Amino acid sequence: MPEAVEIFEVGPRDGLQNERRLIPAAEKIALVDLLSRAGFRRIEVTSFVSPKWVPQMGDAAEVMAGIARLPGVSYAVLTPNMKGYEGARAARASEVAIFASASEGFSKANLNATIAESLDRLAPVAAAARADGIPVRGYVSVVTDCPFDGPTPPGNVARVAAALRDMGCYEISLGETIGQGRPETIDAMLTAVLDELPADRLAGHYHDTAGRALQNIDASLARGLRAFDAAVGGLGGCPYAPGARGNVATEQVAAHLAAQGYATGLDMDVIGQAAAMARAMREGADV
Ligand code: HMG
Ligand code: MG
Repeated sequence: MPEAVEIFEVGPRDGLQNERRLIPAAEKIALVDLLSRAGFRRIEVTSFVSPKWVPQMGDAAEVMAGIARLPGVSYAVLTPNMKGYEGARAARASEVAIFASASEGFSKANLNATIAESLDRLAPVAAAARADGIPVRGYVSVVTDCPFDGPTPPGNVARVAAALRDMGCYEISLGETIGQGRPETIDAMLTAVLDELPADRLAGHYHDTAGRALQNIDASLARGLRAFDAAVGGLGGCPYAPGARGNVATEQVAAHLAAQGYATGLDMDVIGQAAAMARAMREGADV
């Protein structure tokens, strides 16, 4: 039996949030419905964030109401605060994700708060989700490099990851937000984080700006990680991280893992169709 590695599809959220053209909800729903048939266990559909900050995600409730949910697939959404959590719960999100930064500069830009303030704001979200029986995932951003503060000390990542773990996050996704990490910096960061959490509670979330995401995945596989976030068609970026273009492409990660003998359980024909649909959405063509 080949060893399993999970790809967590984040294209509909991280992939599309940075697009300038306001994409109609129907197109987003069509993409999620196609992805549902690809074999993913988890798909990040949208985010319940302030529409003043990220207008593209302003239709989160409509998208969640429109998707056809398949059994066995977890439909995840981002929630930055209690208002977002209430929206996510009303929309029957299968799980929610809270997100914090390992640097003060990015925390201010992305969340308008210091790291400490953002953690204080996230604690009630995690507590409410736990009380409601909704699993919570945590993100730490800028795990190797920050566009505002420069290189991120690994200890800062470990501290924020531990804080999210203590709030009850079942998994921490390590966001290499601007795609400037290298296998060495990823490895150093993981050394610190693995002091706090075992590899099976970590995921790699690597943007591919400099074309090193697959190498960074390899460095993470060597440290025992077996879950990676990716966006079909390589869409993506964070609106508050200058230079953050493109999550690593799901189809590339799947092929790369298969070449190493790992099983992802994905249907590559469906992934190919979804990648074409995602790219067409970026270009504003009819899909
Ligand atoms: P703020 O402006 O300090 O908050 O933003 P506020 O409480 O003053 O709210 C401002 C307005 O937004 C108010 O409306 C609120 O009601 C509304 P007004 O009274 O002016 O009409 N509002 C909301 N509306 C809907 N849903 C909500 C919500 N919250 C407030 N949840 C805030 C603080 C956290 C809200 C803001 O900074 C925000 O939304 N940030 C999110 C930014 C974002 O989505 N970034 C991208 C996702 S993170 C990412 O991509 C990284 C990741 O991929 C990992 C990686 O790569 O590193 C996960
Ligand atoms: Mg991201």
